[in-house]
Amino acid sequence: MPQTETKSRPLKKLHIKTYGCQMNVYDSERIGDVLLPLGYAEAPEYQNADMVVLNTCHIREKAAEKVYSELGRINEEKLRLKEEGKRMIIAVAGCVAQAEGDEIKRRAPYVDLVVGPQSYQRLPKLMENLDAAKPANNGVMLDFAAEDKFDNLPTSTQSKGATAFLTIQEGCDKFCHFCVVPYTRGAEFSRPAQAIIDEAKQLVDQGVLDITLLGQNVNAYHGTGPYGDTWNLASLMRALSEIEGLVRIRYTTSHPQDVDAEQIAMHRDLPKVMPYLHLPVQSGSDSILKAMNRKHTADSYRRTMEQFRKARPDIAFSSDFIVGYPGETDKDFQETLKLVGEIGYGSAYSFIYSPRPGTPAAMKDDTIPMAEKKARLQELQSLLQQQQTDLHRAMIGQTIPVLFVREGKYEGHITGYSPYQQPVFMNAGAQAASYMNRIVEVQITDANMRYLEGILPGAAETA
Ligand code: SAH
Ligand code: SF4
Ligand code: F3S
Repeated sequence: MPQTETKSRPLKKLHIKTYGCQMNVYDSERIGDVLLPLGYAEAPEYQNADMVVLNTCHIREKAAEKVYSELGRINEEKLRLKEEGKRMIIAVAGCVAQAEGDEIKRRAPYVDLVVGPQSYQRLPKLMENLDAAKPANNGVMLDFAAEDKFDNLPTSTQSKGATAFLTIQEGCDKFCHFCVVPYTRGAEFSRPAQAIIDEAKQLVDQGVLDITLLGQNVNAYHGTGPYGDTWNLASLMRALSEIEGLVRIRYTTSHPQDVDAEQIAMHRDLPKVMPYLHLPVQSGSDSILKAMNRKHTADSYRRTMEQFRKARPDIAFSSDFIVGYPGETDKDFQETLKLVGEIGYGSAYSFIYSPRPGTPAAMKDDTIPMAEKKARLQELQSLLQQQQTDLHRAMIGQTIPVLFVREGKYEGHITGYSPYQQPVFMNAGAQAASYMNRIVEVQITDANMRYLEGILPGAAETA
C-alpha cells in the first residue's frame, strides 16, 4: 500500500481526561473522532500535549471540585511549554462546562475553550477562531441541540476493542430533586433508530462483539423508526439483535417509572440481551422517594423487579443508592436496607447525598450529621458487598461464556466479562493473546467480592 500523507505528517498530541458516567466515556471517544481530522492523536498523558480536554462531571461536589485542581496542574505544564515556545490548548467539556459556563473562564482564565455535552462537535470551528481578536463566543459553546451533535459527528474510524458504548438517548425530563443531569444534559432526546442501527453495524464491522446502549433513561427511548413510526427500547433491541456478528447487547441506565412489559419480555425473548439490569432505586423509603421526586414507590419497584426475575430467572440486578438525603430518618434508612435484603443485588453504586446548586433538594436543610451519613453508607455498602460476594461465589463450578477484553497484571493473565457483567480472570499462559477479544467458555473455579476466576473447561484434568 502506498504511504499515505497523513502517516508522514507529524501528529499533534491530544490528551483527554474523562470523569463521570459512561456517556462521558462515549463523548470522549467522539471528541477524539472530531479532532482526528485536525491531526490530533490521543496520548495517555498531558505532558507535552498540544491540546488537553477535560471531560467533566457535575453530579456530586467532589467530582466538580476535582476539575479546578486538575486544571491548575495542567496550566503549570501549559506555562512550561510556553517558555519553550510551544502552545497548549486547554478545553473543558462535559457537565461542569455546561453548568458553570463562563464561570470556568473567570476562575481559570488560561482555559481556551468551554464546550457542553451537546456542542463538542463544534470544537474545530471554535479552534479556528481561537486566535481572532474576538474569538467566536469567547470560546464558550453550550448549545443544546442533540440532533445537531449526532448529525455532525464524523464516522468513527479509530480501532475498537470487542466492547463499545453507543449513546441512543440524551438528556432527562425526570427532574429528581437531587440531580443536575436535566440541567447539564438538557431535555430528553432519542436518536433515530436507523442512525443507531448504522452505528452499531459499523462498530461490529470494526470488531465489536458487545455493545452497551447508553442514555440517562434508555428505557424512555422513543426514537423515530425507519418508516416514521415511533420505536421503543424493545423495538430497537429486536432490530439490533438481527445484526450478524453482534453477540451481546447491554443498556444503561433505566428509570423504574419507564419500565414496560416489552422491556421485561425482551430479557426473556432476545438471547443477545444480557441478563443484567441496572435499575436505580435510590431509597427504600416511600417518603424519601416522594421527597426526591422519583415518581415510583418501593413497592412498585419490588413488583417490577419480580417481573424481570420471572422473565429471566438468572438476571443480575444492579442499582444506585443515595444515603443522607435531607430528612432521611433512621427508619427511612432501615427501609432501604430491607429493600436491598429482599431484592438481592449483584452489584451496586451508593453515595452520600451531595447538595447541588440549582436543584430543589439543595434548598432543604441538610441536618443529618456527616458521621451519621458515613455510618449509613458503610452499613449499606457492607450489605451490598456481601450480596455481591455471595452471587460471585455462587458462580463457582459453573461454565459460562466470557468475553476477554484486556491483559491482566501478570504475564499470561487475561480479564473478561461474564454475561452478568462480572469481571473474570483467567491464567491463559502462552495462549493468552489467542483468547483476547473472543468469547470463550470458562469454568469458574474461585471468586471473591471483586471478581471471578476461571479455567478452560477440562484444563484442570490436563494440567
Ligand atoms: N439517570 C440515572 C442516574 C444518573 S446519575 C438514573 O436515574 O438512574 C447516577 C447516580 O448518581 C444516581 O442514580 C444517583 O444515585 C447519584 N446521584 C445523582 N445526584 C446525586 C447527588 N446530588 N448526590 C449524591 N448522589 C447523586
Ligand atoms: Fe437524574 Fe433522575 Fe434524570 Fe436519573 S432520572 S438523570 S437521577 S433526574
Ligand atoms: Fe456526570 Fe454529566 Fe454523567 S453530571 S454522571 S457526566 S451526565
